[in-house]
Amino acid sequence: MRRKLAAGNWKMNGLSAELDQIDALTAKHADSAIDLLICPPATLIAAAAARMSPHAMMIGGQDCHSEPSGAFTGDISAAMLADAGAGAVILGHSERREQHEESDEMIRAKALAAHQSGLITVICVGESLAQRDAANTLDIIGAQLAASVPNNATAENLVIAYEPIWAIGTGKVPTLDQIGEVHDFIRARLEHRFGADTGHSIRLLYGGSVKPGNAADIFTVTNVDGALVGGASLKAADFSPIIEALETAAS
Ligand code: PGA
Repeated sequence: MRRKLAAGNWKMNGLSAELDQIDALTAKHADSAIDLLICPPATLIAAAAARMSPHAMMIGGQDCHSEPSGAFTGDISAAMLADAGAGAVILGHSERREQHEESDEMIRAKALAAHQSGLITVICVGESLAQRDAANTLDIIGAQLAASVPNNATAENLVIAYEPIWAIGTGKVPTLDQIGEVHDFIRARLEHRFGADTGHSIRLLYGGSVKPGNAADIFTVTNVDGALVGGASLKAADFSPIIEALETAAS
């Protein structure tokens, strides 16, 4: 059985005052039967991790460098994230792929570094609208998966997030059939590459405009093991109903 995972990506949002939102979530979902992950900006990781009751919620980073240390001004290594209390890191988000020109090869190198530091990697894949319109979606996802995911990935250290770029922050969501088609494809690819057991056990998240109003439907889709949530993870009042929908799906 794959344990469900609700993950929040705060992106470049959140000052110390917003740590209250994490407090509210941990208070409400302390005994949750699903896994919870919040990825605040790097400036809040240590403070967020420090106030976590053990295991209530994991704190993660939104990116890391592939090198352990060195002359990389402004960057953060995987070991630094772990040292600050992070247990996971999002890698290859489409905003990093686009705005920071991250290639699949760079993402794979970052994932190797993250695994070496004991972090879970949430590796993002997803097609643009032009690619979907050209009926290239599965080719794109297949190529991103093949090149971004390192060979040392296991069901314990790898989570895949399918995030269609056109659905991120837009309020547009694929149909349940479209989500199911991609998630089934990712599952088949992982089983082929890592073997039936590992491939079957790696968790697959859907991301892109997940809201309290559509989460329960999305969680009915086979091979959707949770969500990576941006905008709706910023406020406990929005994220909590999404977590509850996933808890219901898990029960
Ligand atoms: P969104 O972002 O939920 O605001 O669409 C999702 C993401 O980018 O991870």
